[in-house]
Amino acid sequence: MSTVHEDTSLEFIASNLDILATILPERLLKPQVGIVCGSGLSTLAASFRERIEVPYSSLKGFGISTVHGHKSALAFGLVGPGDGVPVVAMLGRFHAYEGHSLSTVVYPVRVMARLGVKDIIITNAAGSLDPALPVGTIVSIRDHLALPNLTGFNPLLGPAKPQYPRFLPLSTAYSHSLRRTVFLAAHELGLPSSTLGEGTYAWVSGPTYESPAEGRFLRAAGASVVGMSTVPEVLAAKEEGIEVCVLSLVTNFVVVPDGYRSVREEVEAELAGRPLPPVPQVEVSHEEVLAIGKEKGEVMRSLVEKMIELLGKS
Ligand code: 6GU
Repeated sequence: MSTVHEDTSLEFIASNLDILATILPERLLKPQVGIVCGSGLSTLAASFRERIEVPYSSLKGFGISTVHGHKSALAFGLVGPGDGVPVVAMLGRFHAYEGHSLSTVVYPVRVMARLGVKDIIITNAAGSLDPALPVGTIVSIRDHLALPNLTGFNPLLGPAKPQYPRFLPLSTAYSHSLRRTVFLAAHELGLPSSTLGEGTYAWVSGPTYESPAEGRFLRAAGASVVGMSTVPEVLAAKEEGIEVCVLSLVTNFVVVPDGYRSVREEVEAELAGRPLPPVPQVEVSHEEVLAIGKEKGEVMRSLVEKMIELLGKS
């Protein structure tokens, strides 16, 4: 799989602005906040006022999303009282595991940057590695652990470009100010404090879920949740100078047993007439992930909406 893309020149990306200018009214054309909707979370755009959806297929340079539960369009609209804050949402994102190059994965973020987006709220569905973050919790991400980035799979690989820093620091990748906004918004909504946690997101390339040993490894290394998206978009947004907020919805718990039961002992005990109790066989499924997204999507939507309202005031 190639990691360095085709045409990501500023001129090519910006050619989408001309297309959008023929479709959108002036007040929707300069979104302040961008949103990336994760698995089962496309309803985040349901309450946009004056919403206009523009399919990726009518724009230039967008890939085709192939994952069940993802649409393929940009949704423009207004959020919040009064004139409202102009926003743009990606309904459906691209993942490396679909076979997309990482530059295709981050391409829509670059389009958002050209549109003038200042803050981006990236959502995803993730598995929890931390018992303090049970299913249904929304986790405000403060840091990431991206093994693919450490081993040569990074969307920013490529020749230096004059408009971007060559060596991008990530110590401030997850905006402190936006992380405060998350908790202020939750407070204004009166959300119970257990609804919202904080943690570190581990990015794995997928499409396989983690093996038990890999889950144990990620947990020991300090990850709170694990998923197959988001980090590439975070890097591109940071490179573009956009403030980044990531919200992970915990859709399942990654069961990471401390060790393994010996099958030798199991068989020997059975042969000796003292069978051991069965070990539960647990498997995560994409359906489970989508179902929780649907169930908790409303909480995520109200939180994102309130955040945008607060950002409009600041
Ligand atoms: Cl358990 N793992 C990964 N890699 N991605 C997920 C997930 C788990 N649950 C939702 N997305």
